[in-house]
Amino acid sequence: MRLVTLSAPDDFDAWRDAARGLIADSVPPEDVVWQVGGETDDLFAATATPRHDPVGPAFKVPRAFLDLARSAILNRDPERFALLYTLLARLRREPKLVEDQADPLVRRLETLAKHVRRDIHKMRAFLRFREVTNDSGSRYVAWFEPEHHILRANAAFFVNRFASMRWSILTPEVSLHWDGAGLSEGPGATKADAPDGDPIEEVWKTYYASIFNPARVKVGAMLKEMPRKYWKNMPETALVPELLANAQARESGMIAKARTAPGGNSEVAWEALREEAMGCTRCHLYKNATQTVFGEGPVSASIMFVGEQPGDQEDLAGHPFVGPAGQVFDRALGEAGIDRATTYVTNAVKHFKFEPRGKRRIHAKPDAGEIEACRWWIEQEQMLVRPKVTVALGATAARSLFGKVMTISRERGRAQALPGDGGEAWITVHPSYLLRLPDEAARTTEFARFVEDLKLAKAAAA
Ligand code: URA
Repeated sequence: MRLVTLSAPDDFDAWRDAARGLIADSVPPEDVVWQVGGETDDLFAATATPRHDPVGPAFKVPRAFLDLARSAILNRDPERFALLYTLLARLRREPKLVEDQADPLVRRLETLAKHVRRDIHKMRAFLRFREVTNDSGSRYVAWFEPEHHILRANAAFFVNRFASMRWSILTPEVSLHWDGAGLSEGPGATKADAPDGDPIEEVWKTYYASIFNPARVKVGAMLKEMPRKYWKNMPETALVPELLANAQARESGMIAKARTAPGGNSEVAWEALREEAMGCTRCHLYKNATQTVFGEGPVSASIMFVGEQPGDQEDLAGHPFVGPAGQVFDRALGEAGIDRATTYVTNAVKHFKFEPRGKRRIHAKPDAGEIEACRWWIEQEQMLVRPKVTVALGATAARSLFGKVMTISRERGRAQALPGDGGEAWITVHPSYLLRLPDEAARTTEFARFVEDLKLAKAAAA
């Protein structure tokens, strides 16, 4: 039996070094006991000093495994080290195993990694600093209770975003302190160690108010999106009664403020919105998808394209329209003279819905409930981007934008007013429809019609 002791629960480098040594020694997974610090003691275990110079035939670990392992290791599940080592050992014989979404071990580790990613995004979206002033000046302190061991992995995000401030993030297990130049660690804390009171970031309130849609207030839904344990920490929730009281005026005023305030607040608001969407659990689709695929493009775009939902490749890459349908879309945009980089591209449904078939994940159409649950995000994106023209690519997008079933053949080729003050919409086919056409002649004709529709939208946005 080998005992491997890692110095910290998120110590990926130590796990990797130990795992390399064990693989080189051909130690089977069932002969390894993993522990952190002195957290467990197996009296029968012989301490292993992992070897750092692997012997035996070179074994190239796929990049996808390392990405998976880096995230999964941060999960609180005590079995994670052993599960990862088991996968690593199997990879030697089955080099493509990480791609096999049907394999129970791969699926379990993907789920661990997914929960970690969601926790990382929640921390980015829901952490709030409050100012503390003493003799040595101001420091900004935030309290957060992560579900997994994500604090160190998330540090760079907060350093980059708040580089010029001195701040501390307190969690029950460890604290991080940034002094403007370097990062240091301290012991865990309690909520009582963090200050109460107003947050420093007016922008959060501005953002929150800017996306507050009084017509759709559902406190239950808001709480679901913003879990209760974060909710009580978030000052903007105190705004809700006020927002409800002044709903209409405040809504339009604050959106205008978010869009026009110096410092590009609409970009900050968009980023915050995206971060929130990364933790979305509004419908069940998040459970099987790899990640939320949010919209992309400048918030100043005058055209917004709305597709159906991410496909297999988009789900893995985290970006909309990068797979086969995306290639058709890009080619059509090129022929229509539209630079994709100037447009905002998103989907009606932000998680990939699929049926597993063997090793493949087959696209499944989102149903009305899933489209409805995801409409909230599209509405926020529309409020922030305010495109002059929105193009619905296919029936799902049209249903989401108009809130009812639209027949593409009937509505195609002319401008339509979107509900509310949503601007003008054009409805056309989805690029994957072109991929499914059986014969070459039909594909050519329909592709040309699609390009014509895009040209109409471009002219309308000009
Ligand atoms: N199909 C879509 O509707 N959206 C994507 O992002 C990819 C394929």
